[in-house]
This record gives sequence, structure tokens and C-alpha cells, in this order.
Amino acid sequence: MLKGGGPAKTVMITGASRGLGRALAVELATRGHTVIGCARVQENLLSLQTHISSSSSSSPSPSNHIFTPLDVRSDSSVQELAKLLLQKKQVPDIIVNNAGTINKNNKLWEVPAEEFDMVIDINIKGVANVIRHFLPLMIEKKQGIMVNMSSGWGRSAAAEVAPYCASKWAIEGLSRSVAKEVPPGLAIVALSPGVVNTDMLASCFGSSASLYETPEAWAPRAADMILNLTIADNGASLTV
Ligand SMILES: NC(=O)c1ccc[n+]([C@@H]2O[C@H](COP(=O)([O-])OP(=O)(O)OC[C@H]3O[C@@H](n4cnc5c(N)ncnc54)[C@H](OP(=O)(O)O)[C@@H]3O)[C@@H](O)[C@H]2O)c1
Repeated sequence: MLKGGGPAKTVMITGASRGLGRALAVELATRGHTVIGCARVQENLLSLQTHISSSSSSSPSPSNHIFTPLDVRSDSSVQELAKLLLQKKQVPDIIVNNAGTINKNNKLWEVPAEEFDMVIDINIKGVANVIRHFLPLMIEKKQGIMVNMSSGWGRSAAAEVAPYCASKWAIEGLSRSVAKEVPPGLAIVALSPGVVNTDMLASCFGSSASLYETPEAWAPRAADMILNLTIADNGASLTV
């Protein structure tokens, strides 16, 4: 049981190297939860690991956390990570499918095909890869919460970000459909984080991104919300 109440949980966060994922990883580790953080850029994961192990003394032994390079687009890499965590008896209690990308602002017909593919591959197929290999482990454990990062633009539309909007509308539909498939004990939700000043926001908002809150200011509210999700939330579309 942790100081603030509730048991320590193992939380896997994709896209933990920067932005919202990194801030959430730090917040959860500081509260004493075990973090499994992954992203493509290993250098940023190492910096996160160093930051976490040098901060709170109430954190679990740093060796409990796992920071590992992962490209969510690779189905076989996601499968390997699932196998590793099963072997280590560290099947996550909560998974936050946070890794994401956005197209450069452009009218859809001016977005190169490769860039469109990248948004779809990371934002939709990456989430499906995690569901494919991790939901069965949660089903085996008869418990688990999966949080799929959506967006305000998964529920509304905007010019110049059509590929991104399409991907986040997909996340809303995919999450609600899978919610109808999971057995009792599990829940899957779509979560819009609000608007937060990250690299991604700078890409689509330009310099006005700095008018928005920092990931560090956002993370405590997000952590409270994610840690308090229950199976009653299955299929919900929520907002931090
Ligand atoms: N910031 C906002 O206001 C906002 C609003 C609505 C929704 N969101 C959603 O919130 C999530 C996080 O956004 P953010 O603003 O924190 O974005 P960000 O600052 O651009 O960070 C994106 C994260 O995803 C990781 N990532 C990207 N491609 C990946 C891949 N193929 N495999 C594994 N990891 C990958 C990146 O790490 P590497 O580059 O190291 O792989 C990075 O850690 C996204 O799903 C985004 O759509 C954000």
C-alpha cells in the first residue's frame, strides 16, 4: 500500500521518452508505482531513467522499472516485450498507449503518402499491436486497464491535421469496439489529455503552444485519473 492509499501498480507507458508520456512516467514513479517505459530514442529513455532513480526515495528500487527501446509499429517487437514482461512476472496492471505522432500542418492532398502512412502506423496500428500482445496477458490475469490516448481532435475536426484527426477518431471507435470484446475484470478507455505544451503541440500550434500548461503541471491530474479508473469505465471516452 502506498502513502497516498491504494496498492502499487505496474504501469506501462508507450512514448515515455518525451512530452506527456515522460511526465506521466516521472509522476507515477515518484508516487511509488513501477513504470515500464518505452519509446524509440534510447538516449531519452536513459535520461528518464537517471532522473527517476535520482529523485524520490519512496520510489521502488530503480531495478523494478524497465525502460526499453520499442517502436510500436513493429508487431514482433511488441510481442517480444510482452513475452519478456510475462517471464519477469511484470504483466502491467495499466497500459497507457500514449506513443503518437502528428502530420506537419498541410491540406490532406498535400500530405505525402509516406507521412500519412506514418501517422496511421504509429497512432492506430501501434495501438492495435499493443492490444494484440498485451490484452491476452491481462485476460489471463483476469484484470487490467488499457488507456488509449485520444485527442480533442478524436472528437472534432480541424483543417491541416486530417491524418491525425482520422487516426484519433479511429482510436475512439477501436476503443469502444474492443470494450465490447473484453471479459469482466478488464477495461479499455479512450482518454483525451486536453491541450498541453509538448513537441507535438508546437508542431500544430506553432509558438502559441507555449501558452498552454506544461506536461509536468498536467501529469498529477492525469495520474489521479488513470490510477482511479475501474472496470465501470470500460468503453468510456474521457478527458483529463
Ligand atoms: N500534447 C497535447 O496537447 C495532446 C493533445 C491531444 C492528444 N495528445 C496525444 O497524447 C500523446 C502524447 O503526445 P505528446 O504531446 O506528448 O507528443 P510528443 O511530445 O510528440 O511525444 C510523443 C512520444 O511518442 C513517442 N513515439 C513516437 N513514435 C513512436 C513509435 N513509433 N514507437 C514508440 N514511441 C513513439 C515519442 O518518442 P520517440 O520519438 O523516442 O519514439 C515520444 O515519447 C499522443 O498520443 C498525442 O496524440 C496530445
